[in-house]
Amino acid sequence: MNYIKDYIEENKNRFIDELIELLKIPSISADPVYKKDVLDCAQAVAESLADSGADNIEVCPTPGHPIVYGEKIIDPNLPTVLVYGHYDVQPADPLELWDSGPFEPVIKKTEIHPEGAIFARGSCDDKGQFYMHVKAFELMMKTDTLPCNIKFMIEGEEEVGSENLSLFVRENKSKLSCDAILISDTGIIANATPSITTGLKGLSYLEVEVTGPNRDLHSGLYGGAVANPINILCEMIASMKDESNYITIPGFYDKVIDLSEQERQEIARAPFSLQEYKDALDLSDIHGEEGYTTMERIGVRPTLDVNGIWGGYIGEGAKTVIPSKAYAKISMRLVPNQSDKEITKLFTDYFNNIAPKSVSVKVTPHHGGEPYISPTNIVAYKAASHAMETTFGKEPVPVKSGGSIPIVALFEKELNVKSILLGFGLDSDAIHSPNEHYGIFNYLKGIETIPYFFLNFTKMFDAN
Ligand code: BES
Ligand code: MN
Ligand code: MN
Repeated sequence: MNYIKDYIEENKNRFIDELIELLKIPSISADPVYKKDVLDCAQAVAESLADSGADNIEVCPTPGHPIVYGEKIIDPNLPTVLVYGHYDVQPADPLELWDSGPFEPVIKKTEIHPEGAIFARGSCDDKGQFYMHVKAFELMMKTDTLPCNIKFMIEGEEEVGSENLSLFVRENKSKLSCDAILISDTGIIANATPSITTGLKGLSYLEVEVTGPNRDLHSGLYGGAVANPINILCEMIASMKDESNYITIPGFYDKVIDLSEQERQEIARAPFSLQEYKDALDLSDIHGEEGYTTMERIGVRPTLDVNGIWGGYIGEGAKTVIPSKAYAKISMRLVPNQSDKEITKLFTDYFNNIAPKSVSVKVTPHHGGEPYISPTNIVAYKAASHAMETTFGKEPVPVKSGGSIPIVALFEKELNVKSILLGFGLDSDAIHSPNEHYGIFNYLKGIETIPYFFLNFTKMFDAN
């Protein structure tokens, strides 16, 4: 179908320029300083939907950042696809590690992206990816080939837990009614190896505080005689895994389903080179739960990691001090059957239990979310798989990811609709890191693939 390729060829420079404009807006949802920028970004998204031909566009206010909605209903008897994405981005720090400004997009060639990649915060996660849908929609409108109804819901709080979107979904079930949800906020194995994400992990994220003495103390006068909360916190964290790297929190694995031989074989079938994996990260060796491969550890085993730890003196030079307090931010990634609320409770009880009497501890839960599994035998998956096969010339591999998009499990629960995770990013695109980028190849390939999804889905839905 050459009209797709032709339209992209004629308009690709504008598609890139428009994305670059969107990337200039620092829509950091976590930091209140950027509240106005997040709103500006929502408005820019709404305008882009309007320019592309959507109707009933709204910038829906929430107690946090707004949700952008738009739709094109061509015939109520045809199926409806809901496109979800997020226009908010992660904070850009550490700024000194960026080669160019995080909100001053530049195109540079890399080894993996010989056609060039756009470097900017949010380029891959998720502005570059949701914007492919806006441009694919424009393409379908302009070429008069939109085969079914489409709804857009682009939120501004994914990177901070989507709490207001959860409420919005519960309160707007009929507005959001649809037959499939399509999301590009994940990745593929490589540009020559397309894949579709079939699993997302759940998440329990919490912060711990350990308090020792009631004030910072001289580390000579008091050292060795009172509990140092940093030392204690490190010991407590270390004791949460045993020598095989199993998590020691009682009950943590109770609901985890054992891997079947068949599942193991399926996971092993996805192309993966341990040597390339190590090389890409400058690692001499890998690390993880004994008895599982790297792909199994990433895709199907629950994990526990410290995301940040602080306390005491970290300024220039030395200060001899035993701090009063120590802190850590801890995430646990969860697999099917594990509930984030249950795991948060198990962690909290355990943390309180293992704390010695010489300190007091406090656990504060942050956001959470349930895991998600996308079956490969449903119409929407097949439509996506065939679409990728058409545009990549290769059948995509189903892969379970270690990442989380908590709203996806909520979509299933509240709307009773499965989501298809048709992402086009690469692990090397450095999402959440300095120098995040998104390949021009990937951006244009996404715009090309999405119309095929719509065609396939409408056809297969009808036949179903
Ligand atoms: N898009 C990512 C999740 C992702 C990336 C899944 C790549 C699979 C492959 C999303 O924006 C994200 O960063 N999610 C957070 C959780 C959220 C609650 C902050 C995550 O996974 O840490
Ligand atoms: Mn994302
Ligand atoms: Mn993210």
